[in-house]
Amino acid sequence: MKLTAKSFNESIYKMQGISKKTVEEHLKLYQGYVTKYNEIMEALAALTDEDYSKANQTYSKIRELKVELTFAWGGVYNHEMYFGHLGGKGGEPTGDLLTQINKDFGSFETYKKDVKATGMAARGWVWTAWNFFEKRLFNYLGDAQNTYPVFGAKPILALDTYEHAYFIDYGAARAPYIEAFFTNVAWEVVTKHFSELKK
Ligand SMILES: [Fe+2]
Repeated sequence: MKLTAKSFNESIYKMQGISKKTVEEHLKLYQGYVTKYNEIMEALAALTDEDYSKANQTYSKIRELKVELTFAWGGVYNHEMYFGHLGGKGGEPTGDLLTQINKDFGSFETYKKDVKATGMAARGWVWTAWNFFEKRLFNYLGDAQNTYPVFGAKPILALDTYEHAYFIDYGAARAPYIEAFFTNVAWEVVTKHFSELKK
């Protein structure tokens, strides 16, 4: 099964504080992850008996393909979540999601403070995720597309902190970009992710 790149709401091209140019360039990277995912899956399917017999943890075809597959898949999944909940009106969530945020973080302001600080501390991503074991929301940190997803936790919000997400607009200044991210979050989409957890 081949993946195809998704198209997102037109509103992602008209955001406050995250330019159309940034979004266009960023989407090219997302599309690249889709292409590479398909390419790696094809290469895995074409492995020969000789390739299988040469499996090795230092270097082997199967190792390189399987490691980079996780990077490509992360690049697809993370960006689909990120662009899927951008282009909104910002503000605060409501309903069950706000209740859960208040329960797990004390208040929306504290939640936001934690996302921002986690984002300043991350080299790649922040995910607000539902931990099915602890039955709570937590802001997890990732240094790359494939580090460190947490087993038993499902993201409902993804914040890209790679420099490509903001360098055109803010240079090396990440904090105003994270602020702009919050200005453009479509909380109704995040709320939908949250409610889908219960199904
Ligand atoms: Fe990105």
